[in-house]
Amino acid sequence: GELPGVNELGEAIRILSDSENPQSSQDDLTDFEYLRRKAYDLAHQRFGNRIYIRGLIEFTNICKNDCYYCGIRKSNIHVDRYRLTKDQILACADEGYVLGFRTFVLQGGEDGGFSDEAIADIVRYIKERYPDCAVTLSFGEHPYETYRLWRMAGADRYLLRHETADRVHYERLHPDSMSYDNRVRCLYDLKSLGYQVGSGFMVGSPYQTPVNLAEDLHFLAKLQPQMIGIGPYVPHKETPFAKMKQGTVRQTLVMISLLRLMFPKALIPSTTSLGTIAADGRERGFMHGANVVMPNLSPVSVRKKYELYDNKICTGEESAQCRGCLDRRAEAFGFQVVVDRGDY
Ligand code: SAM
Ligand code: FES
Repeated sequence: GELPGVNELGEAIRILSDSENPQSSQDDLTDFEYLRRKAYDLAHQRFGNRIYIRGLIEFTNICKNDCYYCGIRKSNIHVDRYRLTKDQILACADEGYVLGFRTFVLQGGEDGGFSDEAIADIVRYIKERYPDCAVTLSFGEHPYETYRLWRMAGADRYLLRHETADRVHYERLHPDSMSYDNRVRCLYDLKSLGYQVGSGFMVGSPYQTPVNLAEDLHFLAKLQPQMIGIGPYVPHKETPFAKMKQGTVRQTLVMISLLRLMFPKALIPSTTSLGTIAADGRERGFMHGANVVMPNLSPVSVRKKYELYDNKICTGEESAQCRGCLDRRAEAFGFQVVVDRGDY
């Protein structure tokens, strides 16, 4: 049905996110737990206990953008910049395939050092070598023609969070060189090209209000993405937002549950940032309706250099260890990580 208006929805989000105010409603459950069960049951109905994995290859930390929240923003002179070669990227995919990954996510800063054709070439190569795998790009904002080239090369999916659906809020998180309109244009272009599209936002980003979160839900209801990635904002010490508060576990879980209820079929990851602010964060994400996890397949030598926020987890392990660790963690909560493309 219709979503409540943003003010009403914002107020509900505010109440649900406030752990001091555990409004009890249905039977003796708090609203928070009631929401969790609804979301969990819906995910369980559709996906059973299956969790899909995507192998994340962080192929460059060079970025021309300067998002105020992001640890690899161009003004951060303390970052040791790297760019993986085509061969290194393919080696990550090879390793991932053996470990049971059937989706590879190529994510990077907006690095002009890769030509459009170079990216297309990498996509083509992975798709030829692994025709049973999906390739997801997460490489920022580009013109329609570029997205078209990559789609023709075989890219199946694209991740581009809208970050916030409120124009004024967007401008507080990004410098003038970036625009809300272009972000939105990209998402609609990607959809029209037949990509499975992932969007999303940070929870608890600086200056965000519960009404902003309600606006995010309205935006997504319009866009109808196939994937929705959200995670708490976590400060990075070398950014202008270093002193800002991080997002809360509770509010992130509330938003995951609301998204699950709104988008029963969507692929919703339990993110590394949620696992960073709470040791059991990713598992709790599954319990609130998430059904995807994106372990790191990047070479161990570069992992610490792709530091979007402080204390990012899983930067010291081999890929095989990450896979094993996640399997065990999911199983401890009754879930099973499956070898599957996990299409929408
Ligand atoms: N450059 C591409 C883009 O902009 O979509 C992909 C890389 S970008 C680093 C991936 C995501 O990291 C962003 O969409 C943002 O939501 C998230 N991110 C960046 N800094 C963060 C922070 N401090 N805390 C939590 N998430 C963050
Ligand atoms: Fe990487 Fe657990 S998922 S060490």
